[in-house]
Amino acid sequence: MFITLEGPEGAGKTVQAKRLVDFLRADGKPASLTREPGGTRLGEQIRSIVLAQAQGDQAIDPLADAFLFTAARAQLVAEVIKPALAADEVVVCARFADSTLAYQGYGAGVGLPELRSLARIATAGIVPDLTILLDVPPAVGLARKADDSRNRFEAAFDLEFHERVRAGFLDLARAEPGRWQVIDATRDADAVFADVRQAATEVL
Ligand code: TYD
Repeated sequence: MFITLEGPEGAGKTVQAKRLVDFLRADGKPASLTREPGGTRLGEQIRSIVLAQAQGDQAIDPLADAFLFTAARAQLVAEVIKPALAADEVVVCARFADSTLAYQGYGAGVGLPELRSLARIATAGIVPDLTILLDVPPAVGLARKADDSRNRFEAAFDLEFHERVRAGFLDLARAEPGRWQVIDATRDADAVFADVRQAATEVL
């Protein structure tokens, strides 16, 4: 069972992913928690490149971004996700291939068909059984982040970019309602988690 959490900035994915794994383990289900970009040594190295605010005068091209996030994903799938799924664990991952479609595709304008090809190659055909969209207006989510903890996307991309990202996630969710559950993440963490738990319990 493979569960991913997606959403715009400041939606609370990290907190909710952790709570979900704690809940599953307390319920006696072997579960592992991972995140993107990251989750492996190589992935964390790529994370520090793609999230660093200061890129000097050389902005990262959106297509290069897509390849970097996808490279981190390929490593994560091979090293962590595939083996855990083979061992019958529930894998909970904060962000996955849908983030590349939303950010580099809907947000930055890279073609969705190209991004879907990249995702197919990197994921070896692994598709989440459940994707939870923690939906929050970008203005609300961004306001939850302190200025000094902002990554490159939060610091250097404007509100319109983040609005396109959010609309992209909602579009992806509408296109595949069997896989996605959309949860209103403007509420307090307990109320959001009640819905996250219910969505996970239903697919399990
Ligand atoms: P995240 O880990 O949610 O950051 P934080 O924990 O600091 O809130 O997200 C990492 C950033 O990378 C986020 O701004 C979205 C971006 N991103 C992409 O643009 N494309 C991708 O494929 C992924 C996985 C993330």
